[in-house]
Amino acid sequence: MALEFAHALIYVVDMDDMIDFYTNVLGFTVTDRDPIAGEGSPEVAFLTSDPNHHHQFAFLQTRKESGASNSLNHLAFRVGSLTDVKATIETLETDGRATKMAPVTHGNAWSIYFTDPEGNGLEVFCDTPFHVAQPQATSWDPNLDEAELTAWTEETFRDNGRFGPIGDFYSSQQELFA
Ligand SMILES: [Fe+2]
Repeated sequence: MALEFAHALIYVVDMDDMIDFYTNVLGFTVTDRDPIAGEGSPEVAFLTSDPNHHHQFAFLQTRKESGASNSLNHLAFRVGSLTDVKATIETLETDGRATKMAPVTHGNAWSIYFTDPEGNGLEVFCDTPFHVAQPQATSWDPNLDEAELTAWTEETFRDNGRFGPIGDFYSSQQELFA
């Protein structure tokens, strides 16, 4: 049996603002939205960016306090390319509601970390061509093109004891999980 991570339920203060941010800025789709237990009860909304999941997030409008959750640091989403990560950065900058934006690389990922309008930590990343033993974290320059960034990433992490092609890492993981 393998446990596929499917969704997280987040308590929200402002349902409309959160749905607007997650749909119009991050590209999620609302699957369903209704009071959780009939008229007058808190609203729940289900959002996904994956056609194989009814929802990756459920938002429940019951939150009263503000600020970040004190136990969940961030949730991360992988996208298909560096172009997608850079487009996310541009969209977030244009929108202006995200805070704490930080481009971070773990050697095996080029990430943008940020918080949503209610302080929840998020990360959008793509794979780099490399596997690197973790933990690793340093900032990267989104102004570099993919060739420059790849060369810089290799230079920065190649002395890591487990540095190698990301494909080899995934292959070894598949054998491990087989
Ligand atoms: Fe992360």
